[in-house]
Amino acid sequence: MLDIYTLGEEVLTEKCQLVTKFDSGLRVLVDAMFETMSEADGVGLAAPQVGVSLRLFVININGVEKRAYINPQILETSIETDCSEEGCLSIPGVWHDVERPARVHVQAQDIEGKAFTFKAEGLHARAIQHENDHLNGVLFIDRLTAEDRESMVKAYEKKNRSQKRRKG
Ligand code: NI
Repeated sequence: MLDIYTLGEEVLTEKCQLVTKFDSGLRVLVDAMFETMSEADGVGLAAPQVGVSLRLFVININGVEKRAYINPQILETSIETDCSEEGCLSIPGVWHDVERPARVHVQAQDIEGKAFTFKAEGLHARAIQHENDHLNGVLFIDRLTAEDRESMVKAYEKKNRSQKRRKG
């Protein structure tokens, strides 16, 4: 299990670097990210969320298309959008509707460095865009109006404080 970095940590606001070494270290990181995501009951996890400023994320939606996306690039997004509730393992306890393109065409490399492309829709398209944003230092709350963002941060901080109190 890796530590999940939360709101306020600088690594979550940085633009991540390209992955250049497809070695055993990368495999260890990706495996640990899949495990951490599954333990935390998430459908996606990006490297900066575990404190690693590299362009990669993992997604696992109900065991379908369980995959690592390394150096991903969104090639195309649909004009049609979709508005659904989102949350983030780095901002636990708060959720908000976010409007995003309904479908994406993404290109990335796999763990061996081999390029692949993938067309996603629904929750899958949403997860890819949410995780890809992390690689550019963007959180889902940054996609909201300033007012909604502020209320999300306040709700998160309030929740966080009461949790800390309970733990003593
Ligand atoms: Ni997230």
